[in-house]
Parts: sequence; C-alpha cells; structure tokens
Amino acid sequence: MSIPIYTYDAVIVGAGLAGSTAARELEKSGKKVAVITKLHPLRSHSGAAQGGINAALSHEDSIELHEFDTVKGSDYLADQDAVELMCQEAPKTIRWAERMGAAFSRNDNGTIAQRPFGGQSSPRACYAKDRTGLTLLQTVYEQALRDGVDFWDEWYAADIIYKDGAVSGVVAFNIRNQEKAIFNAKAVMFATGGYARSYKINSNAHANTGDGLSIVARHGLPLEDMEFVQFHPSGLSGNGVLISEAARGEGGKLLNSEGERFMERYAPNKMELASRDVVSRAIIQEIREGRGVGPRKDAVFIDLTHLGAELIMERLPELRDLAICFLGLDMIKEPILISATAHYSMGGIPVDKDGHARLNNTEFVEGFYAAGEVACVSVHGANRLGANSVLEALFFGRHVGKTMLKDIDGLTLHPASEEDADTMNAELEAILTSNGKERVPQLRNELQQSMTDNAGVFRTEELMVKQVALVKELRERFKDIRIDDKSKIFNTDLQEAIELGHMLDYSLFIVESALARKESRGAHYREDYTTRDDENFLLHTMAYMNKEGDISLEYMDVTLGKHEVQERTY
Ligand code: FUM
Repeated sequence: MSIPIYTYDAVIVGAGLAGSTAARELEKSGKKVAVITKLHPLRSHSGAAQGGINAALSHEDSIELHEFDTVKGSDYLADQDAVELMCQEAPKTIRWAERMGAAFSRNDNGTIAQRPFGGQSSPRACYAKDRTGLTLLQTVYEQALRDGVDFWDEWYAADIIYKDGAVSGVVAFNIRNQEKAIFNAKAVMFATGGYARSYKINSNAHANTGDGLSIVARHGLPLEDMEFVQFHPSGLSGNGVLISEAARGEGGKLLNSEGERFMERYAPNKMELASRDVVSRAIIQEIREGRGVGPRKDAVFIDLTHLGAELIMERLPELRDLAICFLGLDMIKEPILISATAHYSMGGIPVDKDGHARLNNTEFVEGFYAAGEVACVSVHGANRLGANSVLEALFFGRHVGKTMLKDIDGLTLHPASEEDADTMNAELEAILTSNGKERVPQLRNELQQSMTDNAGVFRTEELMVKQVALVKELRERFKDIRIDDKSKIFNTDLQEAIELGHMLDYSLFIVESALARKESRGAHYREDYTTRDDENFLLHTMAYMNKEGDISLEYMDVTLGKHEVQERTY
C-alpha cells in the first residue's frame, strides 16, 4: 500500500510548551504547520512542571542577577549569549503568556506572585499554585488550535528525512492503527522532550524516552553534553514522582534520621535552596553514611508541617495529594519521605541561540531546528536552575518559531518520496517479526536499574566502564527480542520496543560522554576526579554515533561572557 505524503511549510515533533508555542507562532503568520505528537498534547510532560517559571519581575531582582544565577548554577558551562537572551526576554515572556490567558497566582496587591527556588538571589519563580506547566500548556495549546495548527495526536515520529546536510521532513505512523505517512516540509523542528526515563528512579512521564535524540543520532548528527543528567532532590521515595522545589521554596526543611537539618553541613548559606546538584548529592551522602530514613533507610524527610494547612492547601495542593496517594503521608500533619530522582536532561541536540541544529562545531543542518528539553542551547550548562526549564521551553519555543518564520522563504523544499519511509518500515518489520527470547520490559528494567546504580549522582571510572559494557550488551540482546502483540491496533508492545531501542542508544551517549569527562562539574560528579577542571574541560562534549553504533567524542568551546568563571559555592 502506498504511503501518503503530506506537504507543510513546517513540521514540528512534540506538542509540549516548546512545540505548541513554535507552531502557533508560524501558523498565525500564515504558514501551514503540522505538529506530530505521540500523546494527546495536554499529556505532554511540560504539563508536569509544578513549581514555576523564572523571570526577574520585582524591584529587588534584575535581569543581570538572573543571568548570573543561571551561569553560576550551570557551573560555568552555559553559553552566555543564550543565557542573556533568555533572561532578558523572560519578563516579556511572562506578560505574553498572561495576555494569552495563563492565570498566574497573585499577591494581595495584584502583582504576579513569585517564590524562591534553588540557586536564586531573589524570589523569581512565577507560578500557578503547583500546576504552572499545566496552566501554560493549556493556554498555548488552545491558542495554537484556535490559530489552525494541525495536531496529529497519537502519531509516532519514527525518522527524519535527512540527506546531504538537510532535513526535509518526518516519517511517522499512527499509533491507533499503524497507518503510515510522510510529512514533507522545508523546516522541521524537534521539541520531543528529555531523556531521564533511562533511570529507574525518575520524575519523568513514561513518554520521555528520548526518541528525538536517537533518531537524530542514528543519522550521524551530534548530541551535546549528554553526560549532564539532573537529579532533582525531592522525588517521592520509592518511585521518584516529583515533589516540587516549591516545597523547599515555601520553607520545607530537609532532615536526616538524627533529626538534623543536614544542609547546614553542605551549603550553610543557601541551605535547602542551594542548587539541585548540591542538594541531591547531600541527600545521597546522608543515605550512604547511614542517616537515611524510611523502611529501606533510602530516603530523607522533608518537613512542611510548620507551614500550616492553609498555606499548603493554597500553594501546594497537588504535592499534598501526591504524597497521600503514593506514600499515605499527609504533609500537613507529618514529614514525607523523599530522595533524589532523575529529572532533567541538560544535554541534547546542539543548537545555536536561534535554534538552528548543528551539523558539527561550525556548520548547521539545513532546515532543522530544536527547542525545549531535547535541545542543548546551552542555557543550563552542567546544571539547570529550577524554574528555568519552563522558561526555556516557552521562550525558545516562540523564539525558534520566529527563526523558522524568518528562514522559511529562503529554504528549498526537497521533495519526499516513498523510499524515505524505508528505515521506519524496516524497523517496524524487524520488531514485529523477530521471534527471539528477550523481553522488552526485562531489558528496560536492566537498563534503568544499571543506569541508576552506575551512572547516577556519584560516578567513577570503574562504574562507568562497567555501564558502557552493559549498555552495549543490552543493545546486542535487544536484537533478539520478541513481542507478543503483532496486531495493528494500539500496539503498545511495538511502541515500547522502538522506545527501548532509542533509550539504549542515547544511554550509551550518556555513559561514554561521562566516562571521558574526568572532572566534576554541576550534575556530573566523579568521585575519582572531585574538582572542576577548567583547563581541560571548560568545553561542551559533542558526541557522534557511527553506523556500527560506536560513539566518538569531540569538544566545542563554551561561549563565555561578562560573568567570569569562578568557584561556585552556596
Ligand atoms: O521542582 C519543580 O517544580 C520543578 C521545576 C523545574 O524542574 O524547573
């Protein structure tokens, strides 16, 4: 059966904040846009962002301080041109979102309320209770729909059309019935989200399987700074579900089994509101030294009882529900159990500050863009500050949409043909007909557990070497899988197998990049190289995969600026 080819001006993969915002920007200027999304847009992971979105709005704050905090938080690996752009545009981004209909929480005097978050010099996170991402996502999605964007919900983008340094479309299938289609366009944007799902304990949606990264990498295109995986300090004990930093921002205290407020030892000035990498390491260190709490002694307490029922119900209602639902603990009455959880991907598809995807350190891919968590701009460097990701997604989504709009008339439409679907067809056929002995859930579990054990908050050469070998072995075993469901209707077995293939590929990027980075910087902490080494590693990692699946590493200069590289303490 022939595969239809649909032609658009632009195709965007991913319908979260970055994707929907970019799509609307293009559509309202008269361009025809398709958004391909494996979920319903309102189930995108942007909707899970709880605590806030940063912007220097108050008189006590300034854009310069926002920039400084972001660069310091990044352990000086962020590109300062991109940081400046994002921080300068943050106040306008908030007002733009508000005018579109996003209802932020307010102060009594009517101004937008802002709460403290980690690593900030001033309370800077604007919020909508503890449902900030969802509020924004609902707003931009309804505006994009109103403006006429074509959302292809529950379509799985399986490949890009990439030839001679240019991307000219996307190849996808309908999850509902395996109908296939080719989307041909002058401009393609990836906004496919992050990759923390390769860890056992994580705060991410099931959908965050890093598909966009592996699809791109399989064409030999680079991935940047993949070793930098953020561990959020407060995931619910046992399953990693997010308990927003807003809990600490509102005054939550971290306590160990001896009742000590242990952050005094690790970050005496900022305490619980040091940056996430610092707080996560402190929590794991307490647990490793035997001061953990809970039935397995693998958690610490966050105590919010002193905040009182009224404040918790007004500002943290969803967090309270989550702790009751998963742990049976009511934060109004008792401390709850938390520990570090894999949360955010600082690495991703390398792009310049306008969203153009890099072919290498100096050249760009024609017609290809990325924004949001899948992109590495890099505004977060080695460690992201809380409430900067919603800002990144919203600001860069819109900004990259505008870039595409500027570029599009100068781009050539390279006509697509049915053969462009050959790789997707072969992948689906291989999985559906393979009759091996390996099972997808088992392999996925081994990958996630071993990534948590060997490539987590604390890393060493020995663990990393072991993990590289393990991921390679899992990739071999993956060739021998068997799925039970061979049907065409909502075949989640098939989808999960494709996703596991993606997870295995990008996990190798994480561990190979981490093994080679012989220093500690931000979220990447090496117990065998405990200090930052600016002489050798004030550089972005650029990793490439060849046809055999081997990874090679190159490095790219960091764009420095007015915020001088210095020691980072909290
Ligand atoms: O803690 C949180 O609410 C998460 C926010 C973020 O990752 O920016």
